[in-house]
Amino acid sequence: MKKKGKTLVALILIFFISLSTVSCKNGDYKDKKTIKIGVLCYDERDTFLRELFSCLKEDFSKYESDDLKISLNILGSNNSQRLQNEQAEEMMDDGVDVLCVNLVDRTAPSKIIDKARSKDIPIVFFNRELVDEDLMQWSKLYYVGANAKMSGNLQGKLASDAIKNNPSIDKNLDGKIQYVVMQGQPGHQDSIIRTENSVSKILDSGIKLEKIGTSIANWNRSSAETKMKEYIDQYGSDIELVLCNNDDMALGVIDAYNRSDITESSRPLVFGVDGNEVALSAVINGDLSGTVYNDKESQAEGISKLAMKLAKNENLTDLNLIKGKYLIYGYYPITKDNVEKYLKR
Ligand code: BGC
Ligand code: CA
Repeated sequence: MKKKGKTLVALILIFFISLSTVSCKNGDYKDKKTIKIGVLCYDERDTFLRELFSCLKEDFSKYESDDLKISLNILGSNNSQRLQNEQAEEMMDDGVDVLCVNLVDRTAPSKIIDKARSKDIPIVFFNRELVDEDLMQWSKLYYVGANAKMSGNLQGKLASDAIKNNPSIDKNLDGKIQYVVMQGQPGHQDSIIRTENSVSKILDSGIKLEKIGTSIANWNRSSAETKMKEYIDQYGSDIELVLCNNDDMALGVIDAYNRSDITESSRPLVFGVDGNEVALSAVINGDLSGTVYNDKESQAEGISKLAMKLAKNENLTDLNLIKGKYLIYGYYPITKDNVEKYLKR
């Protein structure tokens, strides 16, 4: 009887243990072994985004383990919102857990939002900021980006400091700085706000400005070179300052001067934003007067952290989201004096 009792207990125990391993396996299965993340961007040739994505890949890979695989699919949308809507739809039909979207047209997110909502797939928008009302359309929409106003102010401060420290910048000694602006894509928050704040910061410092022209070069190096060549053809060495909404356009401006016959001492100050790899070298060799660091490391970390929590359905409190929706990072000024620090990042 005693022996029989023990055997029964042992059998029951084995039954429970095997039940619990089965349910544990089922649990694992439900928790998924693969998390699928879809990433869409307006144009995969964009230098800043390419550098951001290399951080992003590294960040997501840190979440991988023996039990968890992350499948990350990054696609460019060739500057077409229509194409991006289709790509988003395909990714969602394909069962992504979270979609990360850099909109082509930041005022046209509705098609993607509607689909996401119908499939209950959270979206992390980044870099191209949608208007507040659009982000409030549904609870599972988020935005990761940077403080555009700060980048403009910092660029303006770099320029005004350089002008004050170097009176010979006013080449024609007329007490005013003749300047040109190279703008990013129209409608992009970073084009509008950077230009406005950079210029007003210089004026606030007491420097007088005279605008020679503003051109739209769509964030693009070769477009900026073409536009700058036109100014050089028309104004020769009269330009004293060029403010560029990003580094690629600043590098295009420098290309135009390098292909002109204007000697180095007669060239303007040139400022950018981003602190991309090539631009940092241009700061070191003195071609680029300064730039403003667009903190891709923090932005990528924010995107990956948020996306992973959403995929795992975890609580977001420790992310301290602004209004429960936004992660916004700062910018940092870069000159020859501190550029080394950014090379090492
Ligand atoms: C960057 C640009 C980039 C743009 C893309 C901006 O924040 O400064 O370099 O082209 O984002 O949307
Ligand atoms: Ca002048």
